[in-house]
Amino acid sequence: MQVSKILTVTIASTAILLSSSLIEGDALIKKAKHNGLVAIPEKQSELLKLTDPNGTISPEKVSLGKQLFFDSRLSLDGKISCHTCHLLNAGGVDGIPTSIGHRGTPNPHHINAPTVYNAVFFDRQFWDGRSPDLEDQAQGPMQDKAEMAITKDVATKRITDIPAYVESFKKAYGKDVKIDFEKIASTIGIYERTLVTPSRYDDFLNGKKDALTPKEQEGLAIFIETGCTACHVGIALGGKMQPFDLSSAFKHNDVGDFKGDKDGMIKAPSLRNISQTAPYFHNGTVSSLIEAIKTMGEVQLLVDISDSDAKKIATFLKTLEGRKPDITAPKLP
Ligand code: HEC
Ligand code: HEC
Repeated sequence: MQVSKILTVTIASTAILLSSSLIEGDALIKKAKHNGLVAIPEKQSELLKLTDPNGTISPEKVSLGKQLFFDSRLSLDGKISCHTCHLLNAGGVDGIPTSIGHRGTPNPHHINAPTVYNAVFFDRQFWDGRSPDLEDQAQGPMQDKAEMAITKDVATKRITDIPAYVESFKKAYGKDVKIDFEKIASTIGIYERTLVTPSRYDDFLNGKKDALTPKEQEGLAIFIETGCTACHVGIALGGKMQPFDLSSAFKHNDVGDFKGDKDGMIKAPSLRNISQTAPYFHNGTVSSLIEAIKTMGEVQLLVDISDSDAKKIATFLKTLEGRKPDITAPKLP
């Protein structure tokens, strides 16, 4: 009798605890949305409205674009592909402070490679936002002397000399397709539209309250309360042009000569998969995520984020590690 009474009491109080943490979860979801955080939609049709507003994606174009993304014949010496610097099994980056391209040339501005994952959600492409979309962006690295160093004509000839590629372009676009440099680049861009990585954070925002642990939820609350969502918002938690060095100078500003766009604005990077994309910042000068978080407090928000809060924010940021699409290297023709 006594035992069963205790049991009842325990069960009842567990139920209260559980329901109060669920209510907290609800309130936090509301708060996150109110502060501009947006989940990747669960429904494929909803997602496609965002990733493919013009209806250009098709399985044929995606599989061709994936081959081109992995094909080093699109670089002058045949050694470098998009995947050389955007490793899909390593967060979509190369993991080094500044990228190294054609014949060992480092990026002349000491620029760090941003990830291609979820780039479809960015307002603009590149750190200075100089390109409007993925289809346009892909033309840049192929021609860049420090990256793939090829010309439009040579790239086009390399591809049109491979009959299986010509066949695939016809399958993807119809038999009268004109295979030119722009088409090659835009096909790579279409493939990149599929590089979306939903995570437990999305499950949480989509209503699954136990998708994040209480500690992770606490980190999310601190992330919002500290003011990070002034810039790291929307579906990408970034991807918009923002001011940098708002409250104090970034102490590594002198590494490289990058100063942002003509107004000094820099694209806030996405925080999705951030635990997999070190080193951080436009010049890759910070290798620890905790230090990157504390730096943001200093240079953007004029707040001294304590070590303990920085750790809690990092615990939340790790939940942005997403489920990757099929990234096995394709067979090239
Ligand atoms: C040598 C390394 C290297 C190669 C090869 C390379 N990239 Fe990049 N990628 C970078 C760097 C560095 C940047 C940042 C440049 C900048 O902002 O000025 C970048 C930026 C990008 C961005 C913009 C992302 C953002 O957050 O703005 C996309 C998308 C991208 N690359 C896709 C590609 C594609 C597609 C290819 C192949 C056609 C490619 N990259 C080849 C290093 C590389
Ligand atoms: C006023 C806008 C703004 C605010 C507020 C802000 N950020 Fe940033 N964040 C940026 C910009 C812009 C960059 C890129 C700066 C650069 O590399 O030159 C950045 C870079 C980062 C990076 C490095 C990303 C990478 O891929 O290199 C992390 C991590 C980060 N922010 C986290 C945070 C956190 C956590 C907070 C809150 C404590 C925060 N940010 C607040 C705009 C902001």
